[in-house]
Amino acid sequence: MVSDIKNRKKQLNNDEGKNNKEINSKEPIAPKYGPMPKHTSVRVFSRGIVIVGVLVYVWYFSKGGRESILAKHDVQYQGRGQNVECNKDYLREIQRFTNCVPKKCGRFVNDRIITDYEADVLQWFAKRGMAKTEVSGGVTIIDLHSGTMSYKDGFINFHTSKKNNFITPIDLKTYKSVRQKIQAAVAQSFGIDPDHLYLTHPTFFSKLTYKDAVTLHDEYWHVHVDKYAYKSFHYTTLLYLNNYNINFKGGRFMFVNDFNEPTKNITIEPRKGRVSMFTSGAENPHFVERVTEGERFAITISFTCDPSKSINDPTFKDDN
Ligand SMILES: *[C@@H]1O[C@H](CO)[C@@H](O)[C@H](O)[C@H]1NC(C)=O
Repeated sequence: MVSDIKNRKKQLNNDEGKNNKEINSKEPIAPKYGPMPKHTSVRVFSRGIVIVGVLVYVWYFSKGGRESILAKHDVQYQGRGQNVECNKDYLREIQRFTNCVPKKCGRFVNDRIITDYEADVLQWFAKRGMAKTEVSGGVTIIDLHSGTMSYKDGFINFHTSKKNNFITPIDLKTYKSVRQKIQAAVAQSFGIDPDHLYLTHPTFFSKLTYKDAVTLHDEYWHVHVDKYAYKSFHYTTLLYLNNYNINFKGGRFMFVNDFNEPTKNITIEPRKGRVSMFTSGAENPHFVERVTEGERFAITISFTCDPSKSINDPTFKDDN
């Protein structure tokens, strides 16, 4: 008898360790154990909390008209985002590609994909590379895939000009694994198959400063739609390599509510290691606010659903 009680106690402990459903299923013996009503009230209470939480969440994300900061620089997010209705042309075009149509169009921010270390490696790389060049305007670009880098008012090929000794195997390895992680995150965020996404051109590092624009290309602060500028784009991602308000002022990324008559900004404040991802159609018109101080580093990584527009991860070119 004593051992019987011990066994039951043991069983109860085990049950408590698992979940309450199992206790419920043993209805005939359940009343013997005093704690049951207490469990119920605790459960009712915690359900109440969950319901209130859900209501607050729904209210918070549905108040569209007032919400304007999508991501603050001093907060870490894991998949905060908004859905927007897909632009019709975007949808019609992307439907030509199977397993690549987003469940919903929209924009997402995630601070848990890329580590601080990875962001540092890529920032050091960008700084080393850009130290080898001089530009007239406020935008400096390195495109590892085509081997081009901003130079004065135009571009040079850093492979042929032998300015490429700033690239190390660690840089390329980090770049590739970052690209893979972001690709997986895009697929997850938009409910598509990662194997039907391809890296596309242009994918590049950028440094933005307060310098005045010299060419039109330097004027990053105009509202634009990625799909209009680059036909192959289906999903655009950005990885920020340093911090808004610490390393630079201004330079916030802004979606606008209307391409022609914007009356509202939906803002993403850059943060080191922050990834933002969005569908590239006219549902996501955006611009980058002018940098007023410091240097803003980021990588634009673009994806297409069209295999014929895919580009490869960069490798060392033969130095003959
Ligand atoms: C959006 O942000 C830009 C740049 O900071 C600013 O000039 C503009 O007035 C803002 N628009 C609205 C509607 O707040």
